[in-house]
Amino acid sequence: MPAVSLACRNCAAEYPTTATGTCATCFGPLDPVYDWEQLRATVSRERIEAGPASIWRYADLLPVSAPEDARLAPGMTPLTPAPRLAAQLGIAELWLKLDTANPTHSFKDRVVAVAARKAQELGFETLSCSSTGNLAGAVAARAAAEGLEAAVFVPADLEPEKLAAAAVYGPRIYAVDGTYDHCSRLSVELSFELPWGFVNVNLRSYYAEGSKTLAYEIAEQLGWETPDAVVIPIASGALYHKVGQGFDELRRLGLVGGTTPRLFGGQAEGCRPVATAFASGSRVTPVRPDSIARSLAIGNPADGDFAVATARATGGAIYAVPEEAIGENMALLAGTTGVFGETATGVTLGALRAAVEAGELGPGSRVVLLVTGDGLKTPGPVAHTYEPVAIEADADAFLDDVLAVS
Ligand SMILES: Cc1ncc(COP(=O)(O)O)c(C=O)c1O
Ligand SMILES: [Zn+2]
Repeated sequence: MPAVSLACRNCAAEYPTTATGTCATCFGPLDPVYDWEQLRATVSRERIEAGPASIWRYADLLPVSAPEDARLAPGMTPLTPAPRLAAQLGIAELWLKLDTANPTHSFKDRVVAVAARKAQELGFETLSCSSTGNLAGAVAARAAAEGLEAAVFVPADLEPEKLAAAAVYGPRIYAVDGTYDHCSRLSVELSFELPWGFVNVNLRSYYAEGSKTLAYEIAEQLGWETPDAVVIPIASGALYHKVGQGFDELRRLGLVGGTTPRLFGGQAEGCRPVATAFASGSRVTPVRPDSIARSLAIGNPADGDFAVATARATGGAIYAVPEEAIGENMALLAGTTGVFGETATGVTLGALRAAVEAGELGPGSRVVLLVTGDGLKTPGPVAHTYEPVAIEADADAFLDDVLAVS
């Protein structure tokens, strides 16, 4: 069901459902408002289960209607058990939410699908974004699928694999001389000048809602139960905050019982404004990022303070993960589960390990870890983990000399 209006998260001022990213009064973010009485009357587990195998099964809880011709639909990614890693970490149950299974191999396909739908509704012909890499790929692919133009702004020194994974869809790529935060500021300024749908600027209210579908899917895939904890990487903080909102909405609709899971967040040591604010109890202060987790390198996170509030409200925590642990964690995940997550996932696993070390999670915990992006786009930190053994194509030599079996 499309949202009835947008409301400011800070001052509650209401706006029509147009392309407006922020409140004109206080510059706060705007969230879609739904008719909860109607939702309570219509939404049920059965209705959702009868829907398509994609995010569009939750269209009632999204700010746009489901497309009739749903192309390249993201969502309903696997939730897979990771018993070997759970045993190694000392927790009862660990599940991996494999958002690498989305069309462009990251969770960004969810948010872009919702924003693009709104862009089409509003008649935009160009889809745009500022991006740390994954979003550029998701925007470019969605534009290719829908027949829209794409224009993406990325830091000029992005990983080459990330650039190639976006470029192949044919967007106009603007390589900005600066960090993500420069790209972001530029796209905000341009959004006032150009008739483009900037998914994370003037369409941000719709875009961010797409992340709620991760919470919905986790609950549904666990048989309409919620886990004790979910571990989530943080860049702008939108994903983390909206997953919390998604679980709250399921409870509000009576689709699950219990309390909202404890949400644990991770940031890399080299870009930890939200983790610092959580630890210090003060507001988020912008930083200049210097981290190998490029997809999380946002120094001025738009939803940072809301992420801190979500951590406190759910009894979770936000940890900073040492830079040198990121590659180790990518290899640990791959070697114990068969899943190759990107640098962001190295950070997420680091946050889980920190929660276990702090005694927050342990032998009684049922935990879900979000694998939000694919390691093939960021192979750098694990390049040292392979050392092939050079051999001749000779079976005898292999058995005698290499394996030394008699
Ligand atoms: C793989 C991956 N995980 C997590 C995030 C964090 O998302 P958010 O900016 O909503 O906090 C990003 C953002 O780019 C990402 O690319
Ligand atoms: Zn406001």
